[in-house]
Amino acid sequence: MKDSIRHLIQQALVRLTAEGVLPEGLTPAIQVENTRDKSHGDFASNIAMMLAKPAGLKPRDLAEKLIAALPQDAQISKVEIAGPGFLNFFQNSDALAERLETALADPQLAVRKATAAQRVVIDLSSPNLAKEMHVGHLRSTIIGDAVGRVLEYLGDEVIRQNHVGDWGTQFGMLLAYLEEKPAAAESELSDLEQFYRAAKQRFDESAEFADRARELVVKLQAGDSQCLNLWNRFNDISLSHCQKLYDRLNVRLTPADVKGESAYNAELPGIVDALRSQGLLTEDNGAQCVFLDEFKNAEGNPLPVIVQKAGGGYLYATTDLAAMRYRSQVLHADRALYFVDQRQALHFQMAFEVARRAGFVHEGMQLEHMGFGTMNGADGRPFKTRDGGTVKLIDLLDEAEQRAYALVKGKNPELDEAELRQIARAVGISAVKYADLSKHRTSDYRFNFELMLSFEGNTAPYLLYAYTRVASVFRKLGKGIDEIGGHIQLEAEQELALAARLAQFGEVLNNVGEKGEPHLLCTYLYDLAGLFSSFYEHCPILAAEQEEQKQSRLRLAALTGRTLKQGLELLGLETLERM
Ligand code: ARG
Repeated sequence: MKDSIRHLIQQALVRLTAEGVLPEGLTPAIQVENTRDKSHGDFASNIAMMLAKPAGLKPRDLAEKLIAALPQDAQISKVEIAGPGFLNFFQNSDALAERLETALADPQLAVRKATAAQRVVIDLSSPNLAKEMHVGHLRSTIIGDAVGRVLEYLGDEVIRQNHVGDWGTQFGMLLAYLEEKPAAAESELSDLEQFYRAAKQRFDESAEFADRARELVVKLQAGDSQCLNLWNRFNDISLSHCQKLYDRLNVRLTPADVKGESAYNAELPGIVDALRSQGLLTEDNGAQCVFLDEFKNAEGNPLPVIVQKAGGGYLYATTDLAAMRYRSQVLHADRALYFVDQRQALHFQMAFEVARRAGFVHEGMQLEHMGFGTMNGADGRPFKTRDGGTVKLIDLLDEAEQRAYALVKGKNPELDEAELRQIARAVGISAVKYADLSKHRTSDYRFNFELMLSFEGNTAPYLLYAYTRVASVFRKLGKGIDEIGGHIQLEAEQELALAARLAQFGEVLNNVGEKGEPHLLCTYLYDLAGLFSSFYEHCPILAAEQEEQKQSRLRLAALTGRTLKQGLELLGLETLERM
């Protein structure tokens, strides 16, 4: 809709230019926004204010000429001038109803990508395998998954890449421990965190052990087969822990999506050679560096990206360069999105720049760091266990489910145990995911079980419940959501408001895909649920006076239900038919 209004304005501008009201050669970016207050219509543009100066007219006078020059359009019932010269567009309610009918008739709810379909690499989750997944990996995993789902829905081809940390010096320590206590290690491996601690303790207390650990790293890097076997065994176990969490979180990640740091080992010497042969390398204290003039330290000196240490070892950045080259040259991605902690922003800015200069990625490839803030405890400090340790993701999910269980049981004591468990699982996991997804990606946020499990406010329980309310209308009626005849007719104010928001689903999804910000979808669904609520209160559905009205309202409810369900699914939340 915004696009077609932009197009109308564009035509008016052409006409006014031909008439000499506007000077030749103006190419303004035409902005059209959704209005907040429906008395100002549905869409507004500030174009008259932007062009008043070059036109030599008062904004309101130009606005009047623009309105006169706008072509007729069936979607628009009227255009008014407001305030200092805004153009307010009111959409025609019959045309709006028609758009909703089109959405209802389409399994894809009439959602299309506004720009050409792309092949998109999503770098997500990517925990370090030496340790167990902790809460810090939750954000990367679920935000990346939600954006991936939205892009897929819009028609992009999404390639998920789990760039796990499966290489590096910590592995020497872990292998030394596996070697020293094979039997004990076996049982301890079920708790990776404890295994890591035990190995670390041995490393700190015994110089001999530490030497062995260093020796094993060298052997591992040299491709010693026994070391590789131990290393593989360790990684398999660690990855199976991750996979259990992905499944439990309802995240679309499989073992096939894993392409860890070690997968690029063979490419690393070639990356350094390529940089050298292009004259991009400088040696600094024995290390191989690319200095980037546009990134400076506090003293104003250019910052380096170090790609090889003095001893010959490669770094995190070297691997990322190899991964970028692979994503461009082998995967042929048009776009790569990195869902990684905001604290790595500089690393990515610099690595992207080096990759471009070296031609590791094709010219048109979009590289975007989708950084996110930290998850803090309710006190606003980094999230920790009571004794100050990192919180294991699995413990967090267990607690969420337990709390949800108590909550649902309190509300519905009559539910049988199996259904109770199923609802508690959906509510608990959804609450954790939604609390995270609904916050602005780049800001830090406070993790708070009470708030996220509340049935009021912008929470998963509220939205899941809103969906069950829609579902219950159809259950009472004894008909499926897709079995309603008739036609949508928009009369009451609440119907119009709900309809206008329903028509924005595609626009919202396009924004989520473009910006990588699932909270936009959360806000939309929350709004939609609120608008449905007031529609439900003011416009009787099953008790509607005339049959036509009843059908129209049922169709509106059906589209709301399908939009809510689809939206929640795109966020990776499981909906329930009742709770
Ligand atoms: N393993 C890293 C960490 O836990 C994140 C990797 C992110 N992806 C990347 N391509 N660098 O911090």
